[in-house]
Formats: sequence, structure tokens, C-alpha cells
Amino acid sequence: MEQIQHTIETLFSASPEQTPENFRPIFNEFIKHLNTGRIRAAEFDGEKWQVHHWVKKGILLGFRYGQMTDYSGDRFPFFDKDSYPLQTITIHQKVRIVPGGSSIRSGAFLAPGVVIMPPAYINVGGYVDSDTMIDSHVLVGSCAQIGKRVHLSAGVQIGGVLEPIGARPVIIEDDVMVGGNCGIFEGVIVRRRAVLAAGTILTASIPVYDLTRQQILKGNKEQPLEIPENAVVIPGSRPLEKSAFARRYGLHGYCAIIVKYRDSRTETATALEDSLR
Ligand SMILES: CC(C)(COP(=O)(O)OP(=O)(O)OC[C@H]1O[C@@H](n2cnc3c(N)ncnc32)[C@H](O)[C@@H]1OP(=O)(O)O)[C@@H](O)C(=O)NCCC(=O)NCCS
Repeated sequence: MEQIQHTIETLFSASPEQTPENFRPIFNEFIKHLNTGRIRAAEFDGEKWQVHHWVKKGILLGFRYGQMTDYSGDRFPFFDKDSYPLQTITIHQKVRIVPGGSSIRSGAFLAPGVVIMPPAYINVGGYVDSDTMIDSHVLVGSCAQIGKRVHLSAGVQIGGVLEPIGARPVIIEDDVMVGGNCGIFEGVIVRRRAVLAAGTILTASIPVYDLTRQQILKGNKEQPLEIPENAVVIPGSRPLEKSAFARRYGLHGYCAIIVKYRDSRTETATALEDSLR
């Protein structure tokens, strides 16, 4: 692994004009390990999440040196870099992919027991752990890390790190329930068993008001926004008080609110159906 990392770092800082001879062998090796989950964009070390920035560099090298290729099938034209073909998933991986237009790009990892409802897209570097449900119209953006038994409801958008440029991937820990049409972007971390109500948006700059602990949570350059374990978060709004114009017209901006921490009502509202898995 260290050899792969070292070569990627060296190639990344070299001049990009010509494709280096050693690019393909090392890149193929790198992608093979991303596909099996041995290499990840971020990993929990028992205390905190460590982001492996070199993994994003490896992914970017694939775009830098990949060649445009015609993947068109009968009547369906597709053109992309040859470094990122669609992954061929087999039944032995124990992932359920319901027919109907989902795509898993090369360099994404799916653990056994993952269920994918169409259409969904898992981008390069995405890591989806066991028994997670990815419902229709979900995007798992580049390098996003999704834990075990997570529920990503219909229409959920998990942002990636490639564009606009982001340093930290979004991380959703085990047993999180993400309601329909939520959007989670810019390196936000959602801790274990948190619940995001339908329509919640989280980014590095959206303030989160915790009614129970009476705190305002916000991310910054060093520290990503973190939603605490078991928090139940809903979409909210706050008056925009800094501007006289906004005050005059009674304008409100979006915020998110932790209304409470999981209780028995939440358990009932978020119970998952075992037989679907
Ligand atoms: C959050 C959720 C799980 C409910 O959890 P719960 O513990 O039962 O929460 P409660 O019903 O006690 O609601 C707590 C408060 O949040 C509010 N609330 C809950 N969901 C909300 C939402 N999406 N938007 C705004 N407010 C919301 C409730 O009105 C209540 O406010 P109150 O205390 O002032 O009355 C549920 O609202 C939800 O969003 N589920 C996801 C549904 C979904 O997306 N399904 C996927 C289908 S593919």
C-alpha cells in the first residue's frame, strides 16, 4: 500500500504533459484495492476519522491520464475516460442491484448486503458498508463513506470531493437514517444512529441549532460540521438579522435544527424492514 501511495504522490506532483510509463500499472492496482475496499478515502482509526488525501490524488490522476473511450451499446451512446469504466458486479459480491439504470463506477466499494434501488449512482472512491439501503435517485458522491445499516432514502444527494474541490469526504456512520431528499455536502460527518428528517440540507456553512444541548454547531476549515450521535435533525429557518434590508422584509435563511435525540417515537418512525434486506 505504501508503495502505491508513494508512486501516486510522486506522479501527482510531476508535470502532467505526458502520461508516465508507470501510471497504468500502479493505477490499475490502486483501483483494484478501491473496488475491494482495501483502500479508502477516509478511515475511522478508533478515535477519529483520518482522511487519506493521497486517495483523491490517485482518483484525479485517473482523470488526468485516462483516454476518452466510446462505451456505446446498441442505441445508447456513452463516452468517458477509460480509467473509469462501469464496474462489473457479480452475484458473488452479495450486493442486490435491482434492474433499472443504476451505475457503480470503477473505484467504488460495495459491501455484501448492500441494496441499490434504481436509479442510483455511486461515484469513484465511494465506500458503502454492509446492509445499507440506497434508494431510488440517490447519489453517493466521490469518496463519500457510508456506514453499515444506513438508510439513504429516495432522492438523497451525498456530495463528493472532486468538484467543486473539497478536501474532506462526507461521512455517514453506522445506523444513520437519512430521510427523503436530504442533501449532505462538504465533508459533513453524521455520527452513529443520527436521524435526518426528510428535506434536511447540511453543508460546511449551514448552522445547526441544537435545542436540547443549547448549542450552535458549525463547520470550519479545520473541523467539519459534525452531527452528534442519535441527534434528530429537521430543516428549519432563522431570521437574517445582519442585514437591515433582510430585517425590513422579514427574510429568513435556511438552517438545520436538532429537535431532540432519538427516543422511542423515533425508533418506531425509523424502523427498517428486515425482509427487504
Ligand atoms: C424525523 C422523523 C424520522 C420523525 O422522527 P420522530 O422522532 O418521530 O419525530 P417527531 O414526529 O417526534 O418530530 C419531532 C419534531 O420534528 C418535527 N419534524 C419532524 N420531521 C420534520 C420535517 N421533515 N420537517 C420539519 N419538521 C419536522 C415535528 O413536527 C416535531 O416538531 P414538534 O416537536 O414541534 O411537534 C420523520 O419526520 C422523517 O423525516 N422520516 C423520514 C421519512 C422519509 O424520508 N422516508 C423515506 C421514504 S423513501
